[in-house]
Amino acid sequence: MKVLVTGGTGFIGSHTCVELLEKGHDVVIIDNLVNSSPKVVDRIRAITGRDVTFYKEDVRNRKALDEIFEKHDIGCAIHFAGLKAVGESVRMPLEYYDNNLNSTITLCETMRDHNCKNIIFSSSATVYDSANKVPLKETDLTGNCTNPYGWTKYMSEQIMRDTAFADEEWSVTLLRYFNPIGAHPSGLIGEDPRGIPNNLMPYISQVAVGRLDHLNVFGNDYDTPDGTGVRDYIHVVDLAAGHVAAIDYMEDHKGENVFNLGTGIGYSVLDMVHSFERVNNIKIPYEIAPRRAGDLATTYSSPQKSAEVLGWKAKYNLDDMCRDSWNWQSKNPMGYDTE
Ligand code: NAD
Ligand code: UD1
Repeated sequence: MKVLVTGGTGFIGSHTCVELLEKGHDVVIIDNLVNSSPKVVDRIRAITGRDVTFYKEDVRNRKALDEIFEKHDIGCAIHFAGLKAVGESVRMPLEYYDNNLNSTITLCETMRDHNCKNIIFSSSATVYDSANKVPLKETDLTGNCTNPYGWTKYMSEQIMRDTAFADEEWSVTLLRYFNPIGAHPSGLIGEDPRGIPNNLMPYISQVAVGRLDHLNVFGNDYDTPDGTGVRDYIHVVDLAAGHVAAIDYMEDHKGENVFNLGTGIGYSVLDMVHSFERVNNIKIPYEIAPRRAGDLATTYSSPQKSAEVLGWKAKYNLDDMCRDSWNWQSKNPMGYDTE
């Protein structure tokens, strides 16, 4: 199938392009490069030995999307494009609502008008209401988001849910990601955040490579085994494989379908630090810092529905995630700007 991948040069999108190409799909990427490098396209080609079509365009540009759909016989779209920094979304809500909601609406309108009604959307564990008990299931309550970024995911889900409800030809798959980390084992593609990383694993990797001095552990007085926050980390290659499984499922299932993509296992911040140190034989200096606003003590998924319905399960363990994160960071100390 020919798959349109919006945000395909980003962290998760690039790994998904590799999986798609390796499974025989054709890939057309659209990305405005607001948070990624054009070098990614050649790296995807190098890993897979296959070609990929790339358009440097904004997904909100209806004319550009029309041209792409006229030129290519797109069978389905995977919609990764979006802004994703929680703190930035609190400071710049209008930019987040504009980018993340208008890209979703423009893409869906264009798809409808070109009679391509299969979409897979990058949603997030952040849509779950904090009142739910872990493990989080797809049927649990959503909403009560704590920041504009979270609301854009919640609202995008609703927009696509309503679209599928109104027209039974649509197949809408909402994938709720937990905490993707790691990198392709080749070390050619990986996570390359701009500025100081917000998320744990890129921060640890940048401490390891000497770009940052030490890790701040945000709180050690949570109600968890060692007092630090517990999350469901998942290897980005497993996450990418989840999208290929979702395409297979979508081919004969219409309507709205929601799946968690996680491992179902929770690790604490200190588990992450100690595993990274042991696997890569590098010391990660850290200090205990105050809690970060908006953080929960513990979140992890129930991966049961994805296993039973999609036939998808994460294969990589925490050691693999730590090894591949470091393999990427050590080979690309400044990310894609290294060369
Ligand atoms: P990323 O920033 O690396 O990738 C997003 C890509 O979208 C970037 O390449 C960016 O340039 C592009 N983009 C943004 N707005 C665009 C627009 N209007 N038009 C065209 N391109 C645009 O982020 P990622 O980590 O790969 O995340 C991909 C998706 O998954 C995002 O929607 C994100 O919100 C979601 N998600 C990520 C995580 C995570 O922990 N990384 C967790 C849950 C959900
Ligand atoms: C965060 C976002 C979430 C988003 C996800 C992926 C918040 C409140 N949540 O999730 O909405 O979907 O990223 O982008 O921002 N930690 C440290 N030191 C650090 C960084 C993190 O101790 O320098 C801790 C955190 O307190 C947390 C754990 O590490 O306990 C994981 O943090 P992070 O990687 O930011 O992911 P989430 O908080 O789960």
